[in-house]
Amino acid sequence: MKILVTGGAGFIGSNFIHFILGTYPKDEVINLDLLTYASNLENLAVWKDDPRYRFVKGSITDAALVEPLVAECDAIVHFAAESHVDRSILDPSAFIETNVRGTYVLLEAAKKHGKRFHHVSTDEVFGSLGLDDAPFNERTPYDPRSPYSASKASSDHLVRAYFHTYNLPVTISNCSNNYGPYACPEKFIPLIITNLFEGKKVPVYGDGMQVRDWLYVSDHCRAIDLVLRQGKIGETYCVGGNGERPNIWIVKQLLSALGKDESSIEYVKDRAGHDRRYAIDFSKIERELGWRPSVTLEEGLKNTVAWFKENEVWWKNMKSGEYEKYYEKQYQKR
Ligand SMILES: NC(=O)c1ccc[n+]([C@@H]2O[C@H](COP(=O)([O-])OP(=O)(O)OC[C@H]3O[C@@H](n4cnc5c(N)ncnc54)[C@H](O)[C@@H]3O)[C@@H](O)[C@H]2O)c1
Repeated sequence: MKILVTGGAGFIGSNFIHFILGTYPKDEVINLDLLTYASNLENLAVWKDDPRYRFVKGSITDAALVEPLVAECDAIVHFAAESHVDRSILDPSAFIETNVRGTYVLLEAAKKHGKRFHHVSTDEVFGSLGLDDAPFNERTPYDPRSPYSASKASSDHLVRAYFHTYNLPVTISNCSNNYGPYACPEKFIPLIITNLFEGKKVPVYGDGMQVRDWLYVSDHCRAIDLVLRQGKIGETYCVGGNGERPNIWIVKQLLSALGKDESSIEYVKDRAGHDRRYAIDFSKIERELGWRPSVTLEEGLKNTVAWFKENEVWWKNMKSGEYEKYYEKQYQKR
């Protein structure tokens, strides 16, 4: 299979390309990526001379660029997005442009050439759960609450509309929070790990009791691949990690793994409209496609700490320049 991966120089996209090229010797990948602050082509350096891999720099909003790439592939796996909630609160414009209009441009090209389309989405489209509510599943009504989740919800609706209206062979996956190698250090787990490596404090929003489900990125890539090859056309699959924990639990776990104490915690002003809890019921993908997460949270955190320890140059580069200015603006003291 020849796959057009959008956003393949970002966190999950890079892991997915490693998974595909490492698992299927006959598969080919074209990676279309705009190379925003969240990307790093170094993630894929091992493939750069492999004839099965090609990188194209550009935006998914550029129809003239996108169309011939779609035409030469069998399937599109769509990761490209502005993905950071905090940035969407500071300025939603790029989120609307890439996540909504970019998805529309890709869908139009897929429709023109009748191509298989898999859309990677988030559990944040479902809104926020109370502590006693049942986890999200494929039938949970949409209730996005940040500009990021609203833009992802819009793109999900567009993808479904192209299935119902034009019979486009689509699938969607909505997953929980990912963590693991190549995660941009502005995200929660890598931010904590790298701040602790640097001897800095770790910012914790509000009381730290927001609950998230954590999904190790290789488990997520395996789920996307299964849905791509065996998922039922027109269907949505929820993908969770069986790793529901309050943020403060994660922080304390990482403090102890890195030999630090709670004096490293700095409580900061809570995020506007901060969702309290996300949790995922992944029984559909388990029942229909035989997928379940294989990496426990404890094991995944250990692997992630080890990866960041071994890749100091990588994360120091990611944290330099534009990132510093963003960090100062974002984490005001409470
Ligand atoms: N990270 C998570 O925990 C998580 C959870 C649920 C869903 N998702 C979804 O998974 C997908 C990938 O997330 P991620 O964490 O890897 O994101 P990321 O921010 O690490 O990577 C996004 C990639 O998209 C590229 N990109 C941005 N705008 C583009 C454009 N206009 N054209 C082409 N490329 C563009 C960036 O350069 C970057 O390489 C996103 O759609 C996100 O909404 C992520």
